[in-house]
Amino acid sequence: MVVALICGGGNGAHVTAGVGAAQPGVETRVLTLYADEAERWTGIMNKKGFSVTCKAQGKDPVVHNAKPTIVTKNAADAARGATIIVFVVPAFAHEQYLTELKPHVKPGTILVGLPGQAGFEFAVMGIWGDLARQCTIMSFESLPWACRMTEFGATAEVLGTKASLVGAVQVGTPPPAEEATASLQKVLGPQPQLVTQGHLLGITLMSTNGYIHPSIMYGRWHNWDGKACDEAPLFYNGLDQFSADVLSKTSDEVVATAKALMTQRTNVDLTKVTHMHDWYIRCYGDQIAEKKDLYTCIQTNAAYKGLLHPVEQTPDGKFVPNYGYRYMTEDIPFGLVVMRGIADIAGVQTPMMDKVITWAQGCMGKEYLKDGKLQGKDIMSSRCAQRYNITSVDKMLGLK
Ligand code: NAI
Repeated sequence: MVVALICGGGNGAHVTAGVGAAQPGVETRVLTLYADEAERWTGIMNKKGFSVTCKAQGKDPVVHNAKPTIVTKNAADAARGATIIVFVVPAFAHEQYLTELKPHVKPGTILVGLPGQAGFEFAVMGIWGDLARQCTIMSFESLPWACRMTEFGATAEVLGTKASLVGAVQVGTPPPAEEATASLQKVLGPQPQLVTQGHLLGITLMSTNGYIHPSIMYGRWHNWDGKACDEAPLFYNGLDQFSADVLSKTSDEVVATAKALMTQRTNVDLTKVTHMHDWYIRCYGDQIAEKKDLYTCIQTNAAYKGLLHPVEQTPDGKFVPNYGYRYMTEDIPFGLVVMRGIADIAGVQTPMMDKVITWAQGCMGKEYLKDGKLQGKDIMSSRCAQRYNITSVDKMLGLK
């Protein structure tokens, strides 16, 4: 029996809890620490039942009517007997779950970040310490689905399921990597097919939101004259060549970091770390009209149609950039600052990342970089390795 503890209370947590509960030989539970979500979910589910509708193009929808056995905010109750713990919650909430769960997790447990996002393994190693070495840690590059809850505590829907999902495993004590992957596959059902390969750090370095969003924000607004715009610019399809070049250079720095680490530790596989141009072709190939370079891949990507820059409206109906949006407030501390920290440990120069971080931290009133180093006053609220005293290559890679 797989006993899966799902952590979170949003869209992905609803779907994972319901889809998992419907699989043979799987029990799901939910731990949500946020506000009164556990109480509300329990009350609504007991009254209305719980179902997840899975839609797929050209097929009839499949409805799973299956409930998690408990929804609670009590980590001890939730973790008792759990064989696999799956985080399905934005990265800024991970620390709270790791802290609450630590006293109740048994060695041999599988911990999954679905998605883990940049620096997931640093938070696990930093907060769990020795316990992290005794568990198997997995991280995936995204959620298996595009999904949303339709009624909190009662219904959710899957709008699309990925054919495959890329991740990596760091083995502590048993189970071995294949068994851990099989265990998660059992919870998710046959699709998406889980593909785990290479080192966990490869997933962190390919947490691409952490550099796509800040690079495009920088490209569009770093020279802004302060005049409000008549309309919100298109975020992706309205990209200019300069912004594409910023992203390309940031991506070059990430790839150089992976290469430097593979040279320093030849048994570490970070070959999944690729330039954003290749990433776009892999992930969006069939939706891109012109694949020539990174600029055209973003400009002509149909999946991005209509997506706008985050803006705020002025009293006279015009628009100014919103630096309080997650493209900055999450993707800098839980994205680009994490990459910058890894590059530092790998000994790789990052002039482009530094420009973007320096500009962004000024806009947000934060300080991560100070005098060219990650020693600003807000570093403890980021997820860079340095924040957890991880400063050597071996420690960062979990080799020591
Ligand atoms: P969500 O936005 O539905 O998560 C909301 C949940 O986060 C809340 O219900 C609460 O449990 C928790 N939360 C919110 N604010 C909090 C706070 N201040 N403190 C503690 N907890 C708080 O997230 P969703 O859609 O489930 O996504 C989970 C992850 O998967 C995210 O990282 C998202 O970027 C990623 N993802 C989501 C996709 C989707 O279709 N929903 C698709 C691809 C990736």
